[in-house]
Amino acid sequence: MARKKTVRDIDASGKAVLVRVDYNVPYHPGTTDISDDSRIRASLDTIKLLTSQGARVVLCTHLGRPRGQVVDDLRVAPVADRLAELLSQTVRTLPDSTGLEAVKDVSAMKPGDVAMLENLRFHPEEESNDPAFARRLASLVDVYVDDAFGTAHRAHASTEGVTHHLPSVAGLLMDRELEMLGQALQEPAHPFLVVLGGAKVSDKIGVIEHLADRVDEFLIGGGMAAAFLAAQGHDVGASPVDDDELGHARNVQALAAGGSFEMITPSDIVVGDRFDSEAAHDVVDASDVPGGWLVMDIGPDTAKHYAQRIRDAGTVVWNGPMGVSEWKAFASGTNTVGRALADCRGTTILGGGSTAEAAYKLGVADRMTHVSTGGGASLEFLEGKDLPGVLALLDA
Ligand code: 3PG
Repeated sequence: MARKKTVRDIDASGKAVLVRVDYNVPYHPGTTDISDDSRIRASLDTIKLLTSQGARVVLCTHLGRPRGQVVDDLRVAPVADRLAELLSQTVRTLPDSTGLEAVKDVSAMKPGDVAMLENLRFHPEEESNDPAFARRLASLVDVYVDDAFGTAHRAHASTEGVTHHLPSVAGLLMDRELEMLGQALQEPAHPFLVVLGGAKVSDKIGVIEHLADRVDEFLIGGGMAAAFLAAQGHDVGASPVDDDELGHARNVQALAAGGSFEMITPSDIVVGDRFDSEAAHDVVDASDVPGGWLVMDIGPDTAKHYAQRIRDAGTVVWNGPMGVSEWKAFASGTNTVGRALADCRGTTILGGGSTAEAAYKLGVADRMTHVSTGGGASLEFLEGKDLPGVLALLDA
């Protein structure tokens, strides 16, 4: 993908600027309790750069999936309040995203003011990328800055449609995400390891296929390890492995057999007798999962082996927890891998979503080269897909 112009390439002084952010943060509806504000923090540099130039900053985001309806629990006010705290300045919420009132509200803003439009997904036109809605959004401002890497894989009115009407550039967060993820894939220092976990091979098959020609080793964990073990002919107890999953795992193994990379799967497994935080658990050989039990985490020998390879790597990309890491009994593999990445002297890149969450919880996120703010977006980037929200921006 061509390099994009950024907010550093424009003069925003005296202008009204629409900044698309991804403040789709985890919080408990009906409260103001935001459990992870890293996406808000990651956007501060762009906002401060614009306000320091005397721009009027109009932020817009989605929050949750209200599906075109007004859902009171998904109003942006708690997010705007947290941003106001972090910026130490008032952030007004503008209740009407694209109507006449919004036009009046934006015109009344002073240089350096920051305001936030109400949840864009209260309007069905946002997700359908309705041209008239995009035009109305654009008409509020003079310039568009996209800092929502986490939503760049969606072609919505506020990420794609709006760019047809305004000079459109990347924010600092967007720029950093593209640079860090791009560099890791284009010029990886070797050994280049990709650590993949999560529930399903089908969610990661695109990444494996896209990176197969440049990766030295894929290290496999999470629920998806069961499909690889089944493909090796092992009994995986009650772990859910359907025909599609088995087919994907077999294809990857065939690719590894004829290719230039190694596919490393667990040698031992933590099993649980049911899918529950309080399940009885045990460590077994990977070829010996008892009938009726489930693969819940990589075992301690596997975790130690993975950690050693990770510490010695030139580049590590990690996407997906090694087990059901939100439950203490099954978090050990993820934690060992997370600590090893923190100790690695090479480049370490983490996908967003549950991988980033695990690193923040473990307190190692700030020891990574880059923790992406995008879950689905970083996965699509690793699959080599063009992201519509990025394609739409001006080339540098
Ligand atoms: C995310 O959290 O991954 C992004 O904000 C995108 O959200 P979505 O999957 O609801 O489009």
